[in-house]
Amino acid sequence: MNGDTDAMAKGPAEPGRLELVAPAERFETEFWAMWDEYVEAGERYEPRSLLPPTKDFPAYLHRLARTAQGTGRLPSRVPMSVLWLVRDESAIVGTCYLRWQLTPALKHEGGHVGYKIRPSQRRRGYGTRILALALEELREKGIRRVLVTCNSDNSPSARIIEKNGGQLENRVISRISGKDVSRYWIDL
Ligand SMILES: CC(C)(COP(=O)(O)OP(=O)(O)OC[C@H]1O[C@@H](n2cnc3c(N)ncnc32)[C@H](O)[C@@H]1OP(=O)(O)O)[C@@H](O)C(=O)NCCC(=O)NCCS
Repeated sequence: MNGDTDAMAKGPAEPGRLELVAPAERFETEFWAMWDEYVEAGERYEPRSLLPPTKDFPAYLHRLARTAQGTGRLPSRVPMSVLWLVRDESAIVGTCYLRWQLTPALKHEGGHVGYKIRPSQRRRGYGTRILALALEELREKGIRRVLVTCNSDNSPSARIIEKNGGQLENRVISRISGKDVSRYWIDL
């Protein structure tokens, strides 16, 4: 299972209002704290390629905004919105990646939505919640059938997809990693 390198935090979600919000300057301190957690856990935080080498946060936000508009550098090659799962308007708990259209490559692997929960916040239900909120965003944009994929050995992610209504279509071999990938559709 590769979905979780830090299984220490298991328990209920902390009380508070959860929402998906666009990255903004007021989160700078919180963002770098989250970044450090990923580094300490030995994980990659995406989209890393948009982060300027100087760790210039306003420039990072600018690049994310351009990516959402479909201009600038596009890691997924289609417009991609990065949204943070924020608790009580201050704590970043997770990140989701929304793609409003599918290329042949994304149809094979990647799909409409990806997500990550901050290492210290895992196993509290936030992964299940972030996908549910991401599906609401996609639905609001008129998408009625959502493709979600995960590595087949990532059982927490598979569970999250199934709990959000995912129906397994098939398993394919990743053209990027060579790993076995499960492809699910969710009807909205
Ligand atoms: C996968 C990931 C998003 C899960 O987030 P999370 O907040 O821990 O998920 P949840 O708390 O909603 O748990 C979802 C299910 O997985 C189970 N689960 C989560 N972590 C687990 C672990 N380490 N071992 C066993 N089960 C686990 C939970 O018990 C829950 O199942 P249940 O409802 O039957 O009890 C998180 O581990 C992560 O960000 N991993 C790295 C990035 C990644 O893999 N993203 C997904 C790519 S498709």
